[in-house]
Amino acid sequence: MELNLKDKVAIVTGANRGIGAGVAQQLALEGMNVALVARDAEKLGQTADSIRQSTGREVITLPCDLRVPEAATAVVEQTFNAFGRIDLLVNNAGATRRADFFDLTDEDWQDGLALKLHGYVRMTRAVWPRLVEVQGTIVNIVGIGAWTGVGEFTIGGVVNAALMNFTKAMADIGKRDGVRVCAVNPGRIQTDRLTRNIQRIAEASSLDTEEATVLLLKECGIKRFGTPDEIGHAVAFLASGAATFAQGAILDVDGGETRAI
Ligand SMILES: NC(=O)c1ccc[n+]([C@@H]2O[C@H](COP(=O)([O-])OP(=O)(O)OC[C@H]3O[C@@H](n4cnc5c(N)ncnc54)[C@H](OP(=O)(O)O)[C@@H]3O)[C@@H](O)[C@H]2O)c1
Repeated sequence: MELNLKDKVAIVTGANRGIGAGVAQQLALEGMNVALVARDAEKLGQTADSIRQSTGREVITLPCDLRVPEAATAVVEQTFNAFGRIDLLVNNAGATRRADFFDLTDEDWQDGLALKLHGYVRMTRAVWPRLVEVQGTIVNIVGIGAWTGVGEFTIGGVVNAALMNFTKAMADIGKRDGVRVCAVNPGRIQTDRLTRNIQRIAEASSLDTEEATVLLLKECGIKRFGTPDEIGHAVAFLASGAATFAQGAILDVDGGETRAI
C-alpha cells in the first residue's frame, strides 16, 4: 500500500520517549521529515539522533513546555521555518495524574487539562492555516480511557472524552477547509507510564512486578501489551493517502480491550 508520505513534514508532540518517539520513528521510516517536541532537550536530542540514523530523514528538536500558552505558535513557526511546509500534526504530549479521585487536587486537574486538553487545542489552532495550505492532517492520540469511566483515572478519562468530541468537531470544520482530523485511542502500550502503573499495582496488591503484569493483562482481557510502533503504524495509515476518506475517524488500538460499541 502506498502511503504517499515521502518528503512530507510532521510535528509530533511528546516525542522524546514512549508513544511519541515510536510514532515519529514510523513516520520517518515512511519518508517524512519530523519536528520533535518535548521538555527534556537532552532526551529529545538522543531520540532525534536515533531516528536520523535509522531512517536518514531530517529531524529537528523543539524543546518546550506545551502548558505554556505561547509554546504552540513557536513550535509551528520554527517547524515551518525549518521545512517550508507542515503536512501533519500528531498531538500526543499528555500526562494526567492517576489516583483516587479524593486524593486529586485542583492543581492536578488544572495541570492535566493544561497539557493534554489546552495543549492539543492550541497546537490545532496554531497549525491549522499551514495544514489548509497543503490539505494536511491532524491525528490526536487520545486513549481508550475515553470510553469507560474508571475511578482512579478521572482526569485522564474526562480529558480523553473531551478530545474525542474535539476530534469530531475539528473534522467537521476540516470538511470546509480540506483538513482531515482523526484520532487513535491507544490501549495498554509499553511505555514508562505503563511501567509506573504496574509498579503501583504491585505495591497496592503486595505482588512482584511479574505477578502484577499478569494481573493487569487478565483484568484488561488482553494477551499482551502493545508497542509504540504499533501506534505509529496506525498514525501513519490515518495520515496517509490510503486514508483520504477517513474524516473524524477514531481508531482503538488496544488488543481488543474495548468491547463496547
Ligand atoms: N502508554 C499508554 O498505555 C497510553 C494509553 C492510552 C493513552 N496514552 C496517551 O498517549 C500519549 C503518550 O503517552 P506515553 O505513555 O507515551 O507517555 P510518556 O511515556 O509519559 O511520554 C510523554 C511525552 O510527553 C512529553 N511531555 C510531558 N509533559 C510535557 C509538557 N508539559 N510539554 C511538552 N511535552 C511534554 C514527555 O517528555 P518530557 O517529560 O521531556 O516533556 C514525553 O515525551 C499521552 O497523551 C497518553 O495519555 C498512552
